[in-house]
Amino acid sequence: MSEAYLGKSLSNVGEKSGQIGWRSPSNIALIKYWGKHGNQLPQNPSISFTLSNAFTETIVKYATHSRGTIDIAFTFEGKANASFENRISAFLNKNISYFPFVNSLSLSIESNNSFPHSSGIASSASAMSALCLCMVSLEQHLTEAVFSQSEFLQKSSFLSRLASGSASRSVYPSASIWGQHSLAPGSSDLYAIAYEELHPIFATMHDDILIVSKAKKSVSSTAGHNLMKDNVFASARYEQARTRFSKLLPALQSGDLDLFGKILEDEALTLHALMMCSDPSYILIEPNTLALIQRIRAYRYEQKIPVYFTLDAGPNIHLLYPDDVRTQVQTFIQEELRQHCEDGRIIEDYIGTGPARIDSLTLTSS
Ligand code: PMV
Repeated sequence: MSEAYLGKSLSNVGEKSGQIGWRSPSNIALIKYWGKHGNQLPQNPSISFTLSNAFTETIVKYATHSRGTIDIAFTFEGKANASFENRISAFLNKNISYFPFVNSLSLSIESNNSFPHSSGIASSASAMSALCLCMVSLEQHLTEAVFSQSEFLQKSSFLSRLASGSASRSVYPSASIWGQHSLAPGSSDLYAIAYEELHPIFATMHDDILIVSKAKKSVSSTAGHNLMKDNVFASARYEQARTRFSKLLPALQSGDLDLFGKILEDEALTLHALMMCSDPSYILIEPNTLALIQRIRAYRYEQKIPVYFTLDAGPNIHLLYPDDVRTQVQTFIQEELRQHCEDGRIIEDYIGTGPARIDSLTLTSS
């Protein structure tokens, strides 16, 4: 238990009701978190770009009660969703010492995504960070807790980590580091920190998500992390991630796109290679993922344009490129890449400004 983040109870329950909402973005890991230990602690440091258009909106409607139990109802995209409701309930129950005030509340939680969930677009990152930002806002609003802006974000990141490791990185703008590393002062395995030393070339980075399939993943990230425990390459992988992290940070500071792109792609392929050599082995990429990878590499080689891919735990390609080559790359996408996407679907995204408070849902349920 981390004493610093223990939550406050409602001292005077009274009759209060209201609502609090957050929009929180997904993030794309450059160095991947894959393998954990203890209570959601990472086996290696990871670093990500915070996205903008791939986000979750969550509104928490609350009313006080004096029953002393958790009482939640959850809807996703306008419909009751028992599986998400159970996951949130289990998370709140397990971590009730961080949210004791929840025992005095009836919560009606409404959530919408701007993109397909459970298809490897880090939907748990945006969903769980949106939920935890709401919870820390609720604590601040209803109890005597007072947080500075940085304490607020750190606590939100800490709680998001407990729900889904990658979610810890979604609470900051631009780029975040989660996991202790000597080159990142202040970094911690307990929460993510903002990474503020990006070269300006990365401030304009696009991340177009080429949707190869929006089907639900056959193996969840939770199961995937667990399979790392017996993966014969596990310790070499964790060492490799630390070494790549040490090389990537200077590249992010100096704007070395070649080195950035090399590490980005190597990390994506390593992640999926680890899945393929888990026991049992499994494959989340699809024939169109490989077709896209081959085409992207050939185009970069032929045109000498800095455009690189990465993958999350799923078949969809994240295509990263700086804004100054957007005209050429967007033509390339239309003419050669879109045909490999399911229903031609692409989410045009870019590095974002981080989460924002919302008063009500702006997305309409489909
Ligand atoms: O946060 P989880 O448990 O869904 O794990 C996500 C892991 C990857 O998305 C594959 C990599 C990462 O660092 O985001």
